[in-house]
Amino acid sequence: MTVKRIGVMTGGGDAPGLNAVIRAIVHRADSLGIEVLGLRNGWAALVGDGGTMPLDLGTVQDIHVTGGTILGTSRTNPYKVDNGPGLVRKNLREFGCDALIVIGGEDTLGVADRLSREGLKVVGVPKTIDNDLSATDYTFGFDTACNRAAEAMRDLHTTARSHSRVLVVEVMGRHAGWITLNGGIAGAAHVVLLPEEPFSLDEVCEAVMARERAGHAYSIIAVSEGAVPDDREAMVLQTEERDAFGHVRLGGIGERLAKAIGERTGKESRHVVLGHLQRAGAPSAFDVVLGTRLGVKAADMVGAGEFGMMASLRGTAVVAVPLSEAVGTLKTVPEDLREESRLFWAPR
Ligand code: F6P
Repeated sequence: MTVKRIGVMTGGGDAPGLNAVIRAIVHRADSLGIEVLGLRNGWAALVGDGGTMPLDLGTVQDIHVTGGTILGTSRTNPYKVDNGPGLVRKNLREFGCDALIVIGGEDTLGVADRLSREGLKVVGVPKTIDNDLSATDYTFGFDTACNRAAEAMRDLHTTARSHSRVLVVEVMGRHAGWITLNGGIAGAAHVVLLPEEPFSLDEVCEAVMARERAGHAYSIIAVSEGAVPDDREAMVLQTEERDAFGHVRLGGIGERLAKAIGERTGKESRHVVLGHLQRAGAPSAFDVVLGTRLGVKAADMVGAGEFGMMASLRGTAVVAVPLSEAVGTLKTVPEDLREESRLFWAPR
């Protein structure tokens, strides 16, 4: 059966580049003679009161260079809603959609994978600033977030140096340290602490003091929101409440760490939480281009009947991979990259 109309949705936290994907899908679908219907606010469009919006070449004019998502997003989980999967199928039928393109991260694509195995015609597009999805080399949104984090860290040098202070910068990424690692390298951080490896407070303080002895009375410390000191097991949580996918909200390690460094070293220490600035605003050129390529591929996959698959960046090629490969395991920073980065970071 040829597809006449595709539904498109964006789910989970927004990421710069989402609008580039949407625009590219609409353009490629148009060239294939397929209509596109926008589904508002993630899975809420299909199981709640999200609503829809028509998408055509006019609607998507120039949106690729803007941040956020014109469709809106949510962390709604159909499998947590009474008869959710049934509602998804019923509403898609009523909207006249023969297939669905789901743009999302681990959670949103996890639902897409499950629905696909239950018979729905789904194609996925990987999105997250955290870059923690398997089966793709990069996700769009990540490059922008790294640039934002790096720019903030670079700027913080001037005030840290002027006041001879320690500045602890808390970076997003949940359980993966990709933004902290890459943002830390490009932002000239002096110590980088990732969730993949518990850190020693003694070593961090020693690094600060070693810099001081070498004539550098200030330090920039990049810490992932999910990083944990080696004398404690749990991550610092903002709230115990969980979202519909079971995730707690991380945050607070920056403040605690700055306080502990100040107490131990006697140096004035402050913390900065980069927070949602990391995914706000316009996408980088890399993310606009990656989002565009993924969108074109996703529409092509619908045209070719490649369902249950995800458009993915492998090397420099955009290819189709099984959705199940993307959502199986979280892609965290491997030991060899962590080892490599230790060359540059204190204590040395
Ligand atoms: O997954 C993307 C992300 O930005 C994480 O880095 C962060 O922990 C989380 O979302 C924040 O979620 P929210 O937007 O719900 O505060």
